[in-house]
Amino acid sequence: MSERALNSASLVTRADGNKRFGEADFDAWVQAILNELSFARALDICCGTGNQLVLYAARPGVTHLVGIDLSADSLARARARLEALGAACALVEVAMEEAFAEPAVAGRRFDLVSCCYGLYYARDPGQTLGHMIARLTDGGAALVVGPYGDNNAALFTLLQRHFPLPPLVLSSATTFMEEAVLPIMRQRLGLEVRTFVNRVRYPSAAALLDYWRASTFFSAPHEGAVARDIAAHFERHEAFVVEKHVMAAIGRKLGSKVGS
Ligand SMILES: C[S@@+](CC[C@H](N)C(=O)[O-])C[C@H]1O[C@@H](n2cnc3c(N)ncnc32)[C@H](O)[C@@H]1O
Repeated sequence: MSERALNSASLVTRADGNKRFGEADFDAWVQAILNELSFARALDICCGTGNQLVLYAARPGVTHLVGIDLSADSLARARARLEALGAACALVEVAMEEAFAEPAVAGRRFDLVSCCYGLYYARDPGQTLGHMIARLTDGGAALVVGPYGDNNAALFTLLQRHFPLPPLVLSSATTFMEEAVLPIMRQRLGLEVRTFVNRVRYPSAAALLDYWRASTFFSAPHEGAVARDIAAHFERHEAFVVEKHVMAAIGRKLGSKVGS
């Protein structure tokens, strides 16, 4: 796995770029999904710097929050954000492969078990998803969010003029949700799918290069050639638009659907 998948600063750079240059509001989209779920106890797998946990903590009636992640740096950022909100949350530094044996998780039930932009890092995503589902209360919901379809297509096309992207990068960014997540959730839960497109307009070569350097598909040996290609683009255009295509798979135990 790329070091950048775990690196907290890289994660913040990518998220900041999406927020600063994106035309749509990802947090508002997640918030709208949360508004249709009722939960007091939530477990967030691959919680990173706490982007989802801070939304959960702000919900009325939430009594118990657990976040797990492999990155101590990201967990420190999450802890600071949650403390600033006065929210109690157990944050556990552990791989998701081991997390379900942890005292904060094992034998406990949660009304919401989520994993946003993380399940494709699992050694065995199907097994981790099975563990997530097993921890749901009756009526509880599993929420898995990740990219799909034409996600990042313009940037991937540019990069692939210079080097082949690793197959795992391509599949996690495009087909993972449909191939590895939806079939399991459809089989075991009442499934609802929501999609979201955020057009991210990078206003300069520097901004786009910053995003690429922080991504899991950065390739140092190809930096010069890619930088020249990006510079050529900006000689003709004022922005480089990368569409983020995001899917939320919401699975309800007992088959009731979101909003019903
Ligand atoms: C792209 S970030 C997403 C973080 C957060 N959910 C968000 O949407 O902002 C992916 C996170 O997965 C974590 N991660 C990667 N592999 C992991 C593993 N095997 N077990 C636990 N966490 C992992 C990384 O440390 C990182 O914080």
